[in-house]
Amino acid sequence: MPETISSASLGADNYVFLTDYIHKESGIVLDESKRYLIESRLLPIVRQSQLDSLDGLCAVLRTRGNVKIQRQVVEAMTTHETLFFRDVAPFDALRTEILPALIEQRKVFRTLRLWSAAASSGQEAYSLAMLLLEMGLEGWNIQILGTDLSESILERAREGKYKQNEVNRGLPAHYLVKYFDRKGLDWQIKDHVRRIVRFEQFDLRQSMRAKGPFDVIFCRNCLIYFDMPTRKSILSELSGTLFTGGSLVLGGTESTLNLDDRLRRVVAGRTVYYQAV
Ligand SMILES: C[S@@+](CC[C@H](N)C(=O)[O-])C[C@H]1O[C@@H](n2cnc3c(N)ncnc32)[C@H](O)[C@@H]1O
Repeated sequence: MPETISSASLGADNYVFLTDYIHKESGIVLDESKRYLIESRLLPIVRQSQLDSLDGLCAVLRTRGNVKIQRQVVEAMTTHETLFFRDVAPFDALRTEILPALIEQRKVFRTLRLWSAAASSGQEAYSLAMLLLEMGLEGWNIQILGTDLSESILERAREGKYKQNEVNRGLPAHYLVKYFDRKGLDWQIKDHVRRIVRFEQFDLRQSMRAKGPFDVIFCRNCLIYFDMPTRKSILSELSGTLFTGGSLVLGGTESTLNLDDRLRRVVAGRTVYYQAV
C-alpha cells in the first residue's frame, strides 16, 4: 500500500458513482465542491480495509458484497454534531408556549408523545426528557422516540453515556447533578430519564405514518443535507405525523419551504416553530 494516497486515486467516474451511492443510501447531497470532504472522510476506511485507493473502495462498493464497508462509507459521510439544549431558544419555546398549552389540553389523559427525528447521539431526546421532568410531568405517560439513520450512533444514544466535554456543552450544571451519574471519567443519564426515551433506526425518507401521531417533533439540522424534493417530501410526511395543533421544530437554518397550507409558522421569542392545522 502506498504511504500517501493522492486525490488522483479517485477518478471522475468513481467520484460520480460515490456521490450517487451516498445520495441513494442516505439522501445526502454532495457536489463537486465536496471532493476534499469525501476524500478526507473516506481515506481512513481505505487504509483500515487495506485497500490501495478510493478507486479500490468504489470497486468494493460496486460489488455490494461488503456490508461493513457499505455501512462505514455512509457513516463517514453523515455529520453527527449535536449538543444538549442546542440553540436554547427552541427549548425555551417548548417550555414557555408549546408545553403549557399541551398540558392544559391533555390534563385528563396525561399522555404526551414527542419525536427527536434525527437524534444522533441522543442529546436532543434527553434534553426533551429532562425538560418535561423539570415541568413536573413525572406521573404522566410520556413517550419520547429518538430515531436516526445510523445504527452505530444510536448505540451511543441508548447507552446515554457522555464525556465531560459533551456535558459541558449546553447542559446546565444543576441538570448534570440531578439527571446524571458519574461513571469513571464519563457521565451517564439516570435510568428514570432513559426509561421515557426509546431509540430506533429510521430513515427519514421512509413513510412515517405508522410512527405517529406526535404532539411535538424536533427534526433539526438534518434537512439541510438533502435536496429540495427530499426536503419537501419529508416535511409533508412530518406534518401528517403530527396531531392537529401539534408542533414541528426545525433547525435554525431550516424552514418548511412552501408547505404553509398544513404547517402554520409561529414566532416564539427568538425562534419559530410550525403548528399542524
Ligand atoms: C447534525 S445531526 C443533528 C442532531 C440533532 N437533531 C441536533 O440538531 O443537534 C444530523 C443527524 O441526521 C442523521 N441523518 C442523516 N441522514 C438521515 C436520514 N436519511 N434519515 C435519518 N437520519 C439521518 C445523521 O445520522 C445525524 O445523526
